[in-house]
Amino acid sequence: MTSGSNDQVYQSIGVGYSAARRPDPRIQRLIDTALGDARSVVNVGAGTGNYEPAGRRVVAVEPSLKMIGQRRAGSAPATRAVAEALPFGDQTFEASLATFTLHHWTDLAGGMSEMRRVARRQVVLLFEPWETWKFWLVEYFPECLSLPSEIRAPSVEDVRAYLDVQTVLPVPVPADCIDGFAGAYWRRPEAYLDSSVRAGISSLAQLSGQVAERCVQRLREDLASGEWDARYGYLRELPEIDLGYRLLIAG
Ligand SMILES: C[S@@+](CC[C@H](N)C(=O)[O-])C[C@H]1O[C@@H](n2cnc3c(N)ncnc32)[C@H](O)[C@@H]1O
Repeated sequence: MTSGSNDQVYQSIGVGYSAARRPDPRIQRLIDTALGDARSVVNVGAGTGNYEPAGRRVVAVEPSLKMIGQRRAGSAPATRAVAEALPFGDQTFEASLATFTLHHWTDLAGGMSEMRRVARRQVVLLFEPWETWKFWLVEYFPECLSLPSEIRAPSVEDVRAYLDVQTVLPVPVPADCIDGFAGAYWRRPEAYLDSSVRAGISSLAQLSGQVAERCVQRLREDLASGEWDARYGYLRELPEIDLGYRLLIAG
């Protein structure tokens, strides 16, 4: 594996990803539209294959064997490689796609340059760090902010330095979001008490057992005492929320 791989992280935290993380159809639709008329797509940091579009030629790139091993039967062929060194010739694809993965790359410039080299259109789903960190969950799990993946999480502006970004779309998180990413359970706080939910969220899964248990205990107590509802109960009425997830279309 070439440098830039974050394979080790997902070798240990990737267990159970396919159960905790499934594509949400509303987010899938936004991504399908963003891919436009591209007939061929390389999905970089593909993981278990979420958000790979149907009806197009798709090739997946993923460094972690643990993640590749969880890809569903019949899903797109996967190549073990990193974003920073894509094993394809120039303009092999009509679009390159990267969802929920940029913050794991150790060389953003290299990965962005590769996404551009292999496809004329690039579609990226990321979280805008300063927006997402306002989410109430961070208050309960503040240690997340010290993780390398959070510290290097790129903003939309960071990506603009490397890609010719044409469109930035907010990706609202529905109250019943199917995909279990960090913000998914904003209106269902009890879900974060479940270790299998936390296992699918890299920022929580990377915390040590002791730290995680302390954070979970605080949330548990605030839910039991009514403190969480006193502060955030108004969220339980909302159908969706903007937590800083953004879809970028470039090229
Ligand atoms: C949160 S998962 C996202 C997977 C999938 N794209 C999704 O939306 O469910 C992040 C993925 O990025 C992969 N990854 C980490 N470092 C990478 C790199 N340098 N190049 C490509 N993928 C990487 C991890 O192995 C993991 O599968």
